[in-house]
Parts: sequence; C-alpha cells; structure tokens
Amino acid sequence: MSTEVTRLATGIPELDAVLRGGVMRQRIHLIEGRPGTGKTTLGLRYLMHGVKCGEKCLYVTLSETVRELEGTAANHKWSLDGIQIEELMPLPPEGHPEQTILLPTDSELSTLVDRIANLVSSAGADRVVIDSMVEIRLLARDSAHYRRQIIDLRQRLSATGATVLMLDDLTSDTREFELQSAVHGVLTLEQIERSFGAARRRLRVVKMRGGDFQSGWHDYAILTGEVLVFPSLIAQEHHRDEPEIHALSHVEGLDEMFGGPMSTGCSTMLIGPSGVGKSTLALQYALSMVQAGHHVGYFTFDEDESTLRSRLVMHMGLDEQTRQPRNFHLNRINPSRISPGEFIWKVRRLVEDQNARMIIIDSINSYIDVIREEKSLLLQMNELFSYLANMNVMSIIIGAHSASLDTSKEPDALSIITDNIISLRYFESGSMVHKAICVLKKRQGPHSLEIRHLSLTEDGVQIGPPVVPHALAGEMPLEC
Ligand SMILES: Nc1ncnc2c1ncn2[C@@H]1O[C@H](COP(=O)(O)OP(=O)(O)O)[C@@H](O)[C@H]1O
Ligand SMILES: [Mg+2]
Repeated sequence: MSTEVTRLATGIPELDAVLRGGVMRQRIHLIEGRPGTGKTTLGLRYLMHGVKCGEKCLYVTLSETVRELEGTAANHKWSLDGIQIEELMPLPPEGHPEQTILLPTDSELSTLVDRIANLVSSAGADRVVIDSMVEIRLLARDSAHYRRQIIDLRQRLSATGATVLMLDDLTSDTREFELQSAVHGVLTLEQIERSFGAARRRLRVVKMRGGDFQSGWHDYAILTGEVLVFPSLIAQEHHRDEPEIHALSHVEGLDEMFGGPMSTGCSTMLIGPSGVGKSTLALQYALSMVQAGHHVGYFTFDEDESTLRSRLVMHMGLDEQTRQPRNFHLNRINPSRISPGEFIWKVRRLVEDQNARMIIIDSINSYIDVIREEKSLLLQMNELFSYLANMNVMSIIIGAHSASLDTSKEPDALSIITDNIISLRYFESGSMVHKAICVLKKRQGPHSLEIRHLSLTEDGVQIGPPVVPHALAGEMPLEC
C-alpha cells in the first residue's frame, strides 16, 4: 500500500505547483509570517476553494472579529458564504479577570485547546484555519507548557481528519518553542520593503514532512480578489520540441554582417548607448517574425506605450488606426512595482500560453534594477536565457552601456552568457557625430568583422558602407 499522502488544492494554482499538488490532506500546516504578509488572505482563499469543492470549511478566529474578517473578504470582493466562522476570543475566567493578565492559568489554555478541538470535530470540517497561534502562545505559562498544549491540539486535530492551516504572526522575537517542529508542513511568508516602489513579497516552503515541494523562495503578489504565486524558474524542467525558426532582419547589409538569420534557441544582445537605435533594430527582427505569423513578446521597462506604439506605426507599416498585430504582445513593465519572479512569470505565460517564439527585453539595465537586491543576478539571468533556449525561443536582450564593453560590470557582464552580440555606438569624425554597428560575437557560424555606418531613417535601420580607417583614427567615443 502506498504511504504517500494525497494533496489538497489550496485554491491558488501556482502555490499548488510549488507544493507539488497542494497541502497534505489530513495534516497540520503552519503558515507563518509577520502581520500584513497575507496569512488571513491565504486562509480565506483556501477555505473558499473548499466551499467550491463541496467541503465543510471552518475558520476559527482568535484575534480578529467576524466583522473584521468580513471586511478583509469584502476588500477582495469575496463572499464568505458557506464558511463557518467561529470567534473564540480567549476570555479571562469568570470572577478572576485580573489573574489572566498577570498569570494565565494552566486550565485556561487547555480549555481553549479543548474548545478548538471540539469545534473542529463537531463541525465535521474538512478544511480548518486557525488564526492565530499567537493568542494561544500568549496564554502559555512557559515554553514547556505551550509545547504540551500544541502537541495535544495537534493530536486532537489529526484525529478529526481535517486538513488544518495554523496561522502564526511571528510577533515574538524570541521564539521559545519552534511551532515548526510540531506540525507536518511549514510555509513562511515574507515582505521586504524596497528603497523605492512596491514591497517585495516572497514565500518559501520550509518543510513538507514526507512530501516533495519546490524549494527556495518564490515571489508572490496580493491583488484585489487574488493571490498570485510565481514559482521560481528551473530551466531544466522545461523543454519544447518545435521546429527551428530563422528570422532575417531584412535590413540590407545587416543579415550579411550577422552571417545569416537569427534562430530560435539563441540569445542576442544588442548593446550601445542611449538613442543609438537598439530598440529600432530589435523591432526589425520582431517585424520579420510577426509577418511570418509567429508570436512575439516585447517587454519594455523604459519607454511608455505611446512612444513604442508610434515606433510600431513607423516601423511595422501600421497606420495609427490599425491595431497592433494580434501576434505582437507589447508589455509595459514598471520596474519599481514588479518582482523578478513576476517578470519571469509574464515571460513564461507568453512562451507557454501564446507560443511566443521571440522575446525581447528592453532594456536589461532596468530589469537589473528589479533584481538588484539579488546576489545571484547572473545565475538568475542565466536561468532565464537557458529556459528560453530550452523552449526554442529566440531572445533579444537590449543593454544600454557606454563606450567600451566592460564585462566586469553589468549589463556588459551578461554578454558573456548570450550567444551573439551586436554593438551599436557613436563616434565623432570631423564636425559630425556618426553611428556605427558591428557584430562582436556569434556563437554559431561566421560573421563579418566590419564596422559599418548605421543610420536611422523613417524606414528603420539602414546599414551604410564600412567606416574608413581615418574616420575612426580620430574617433572619440562618446559616453551616453
Ligand atoms: N485589494 C487588495 N489589493 C492588494 N493588496 C491587498 C488588498 N487587500 C489587502 N491587501 C494586502 O494584503 C495584506 C493583508 O493581508 P492579511 O491576510 O490581512 O495579512 P496577515 O493575516 O498576514 O496579517 C496587506 O499587506 C494588504 O496590503
Ligand atoms: Mg491576519
């Protein structure tokens, strides 16, 4: 007989993916996190899903009143219909109000534990949320007392066959007793304030006794009406067998310089200072893909949508009235409001749901700002690029940088992990500023080493003749 514990869906599909199916049926779980991290929200979501599945759901609240809970639900436009809510405010024993404050009695805590266990069994609940364990801890005389009561509670809850989420606020800094050790599964929620923009929320499964889960931190977000979890990316787990696609830029001279088309499975970095023509060049390739009927995802951190649209109008031959092609997915991302996990999730949705075969990130500098706090920046980027390669997607990464390629610094360091590099730059000659383009690296096949003039016209990018040596001799690279 298999001893494997079956799982119970939480109502948050991506959290279930992290948990490899959901929480463990008929087991006790601890959801811990500081106030405001979303424990109550998660608990309500879990019970609402139970109601939808026709299960009996019980919310035991020790800290918030029913009215406060209804407020939280209303905030999300959720209905608590079908959820049995029981308010169990630990009251001082009759006749000894002052005693509670000074010294809780042994019996008080065991009475509370008793009441909770009785409630759960008399309700015949399948899903239970207990919010929060802090109130129980406050009643305990010392850690040994608390531990005894928790183990008693766990045993009595286990006997009911309910799947339980215990919420814990982590408000006491010195945690005398690890509640974690008494339960089967532990999920930690965290909220990190950033110096600017939205706080970053992330969660981690600390343990799932006897069960598999995706380890590490996963970003999540709370929106009106939903909790979104963004499982961290493991490139290895993804693979797609699709025929290779090749895209020419159709810019005269450029395809020859690049040694042919760009191909799916390859990443290309376009580097150069601001305004030199990187986005326009990327759009040429995008256009070629879109016209061949493939889906393209364009993620822009820097430009607002109207600027990009007007470029599209210009370079994609659209008039103002025509909507952008159905297979061109423009995503404007606000770097101060998104977590790395959410960004990667958006990329994945385009690749997996829309079958996008080309992804453009404009620019990586702004994305680096999103993941600045991450120590493993290069590793994360590598994971994303490997994922795109495994999924047979062509990627173009735009990096703004100054005059010379310095791989000891971001974003130039990223050029090490991309397959191809095209460099765009300014130079001065005579009394004029000129632009030049060259292919610095191509992992597969030969390419031209020529430096050629580059100009941007109404029709997009144009490649001019090779830059003559004397022009470059007096060259003065301009910083962006
Ligand atoms: N409509 C909403 N949109 C976005 N975030 C919300 C919304 N309503 C509540 N929140 C966020 O949810 C969090 C509150 O979650 P809650 O479950 O009460 O936390 P906890 O129980 O851990 O103290 C707060 O950080 C709040 O900003
Ligand atoms: Mg709460």
